[in-house]
Amino acid sequence: MKVPLLDLKAEYAGLRDEILPALDRVCQSSAFVEGPEVQAFEREFADFCGTAYCVALSSGTAALHLGLLGIGVQAGDEVITTPNTFLATAEAITYCGARPVFVDIDPATANLDPKLLERAITPCTRAIVPVHLYGRPADMNPIREIAAHHNLRVLEDAAQAHAARYRQQRVGSLGQAAAFSFYPSKNLGAYGEGGALTTNDEGIAKFARAARSHGQTARYAHEFVGFNYRMQGFQGAVLRIKLRRLHAWTQRRREIAREYRRLLEPAKLTMPIDDPHDECVYHQFVIYVKNRPAVIAQLAEREIETSVHYPTPVHLQPAYSSLGYPAGTFPHAERACERVLSIPLFPEMSAEQVQYVGNAVLEVVGTK
Ligand SMILES: Cc1ncc(COP(=O)(O)O)c(C=O)c1O
Repeated sequence: MKVPLLDLKAEYAGLRDEILPALDRVCQSSAFVEGPEVQAFEREFADFCGTAYCVALSSGTAALHLGLLGIGVQAGDEVITTPNTFLATAEAITYCGARPVFVDIDPATANLDPKLLERAITPCTRAIVPVHLYGRPADMNPIREIAAHHNLRVLEDAAQAHAARYRQQRVGSLGQAAAFSFYPSKNLGAYGEGGALTTNDEGIAKFARAARSHGQTARYAHEFVGFNYRMQGFQGAVLRIKLRRLHAWTQRRREIAREYRRLLEPAKLTMPIDDPHDECVYHQFVIYVKNRPAVIAQLAEREIETSVHYPTPVHLQPAYSSLGYPAGTFPHAERACERVLSIPLFPEMSAEQVQYVGNAVLEVVGTK
């Protein structure tokens, strides 16, 4: 049985009758950049996240960048984050002229370990960027307490965690601001690039609205040098339709994850744990395996697609060699990257596919 890592074609099949007329409406109105669909999506996504403001942007990377600038990160500052993330988290810090400072992960959750935060703080530290990796909320209470104690700002990287909850509160509302990505493969994905910044801070929202459109506060009134980080009209239309399904899709992701955990129980595999107080939204379902290339090959023989998120921690990427972190600096993140494997999980998966993948993984790794 063929099982892809995710199946956007199957998703589209269920949405086509709504998407095509919505795209047609955008074409008829010529609102190709921003416009009414994007504005409506901003209101709906802010309501969904429980924040006062949502600023739609051209990507999650743009959202991180404007989020950092909005919370006051400047050249020469240090910003603390996790090395176990997609490069964009660190890149946005670099765009501000600031320096990414990493702290290791808690191996139990794969997220930034709050116990290690305090020792990374220096007089130059301005902000912390926790990443809700794989859709699992970072442990925000201790992070926020430490931030408040040291007068630091917190920007959530919620690119992988739409609809996740930390202690019953939606991610996106847990720091001064939060960055979301709507890259097509995300839990809420556009049909192209997209992102958003959510916040309860009016000043940050105002700044981001101007900054995304060349620093304009009114047409051709450029208050400062900004960017072209605007969202396309098509993406607003698509995201509004998909947002209405997000709750049901999230429930299905969580159901599949529960079934995988049940099926894989006998293998006694290590995988990130779920805190029962939180709601992980399973952007990826990851397991840790010893002989990863062999496991990938044996699952591929069974027509099961897998992926690795991520094979190299950010501090060991050539792009960040100048930061001078040698191998061994963040042993938990490095070990996770050596062993992590993502197996298929998407809302349209049939019960048979879930059983098939679970049993195949058990067969391939259960005996090792
Ligand atoms: C954790 C994380 N941060 C940031 C990004 C960047 O988002 P985008 O690709 O929309 O720029 C992504 C997604 O690619 C991500 O997974």
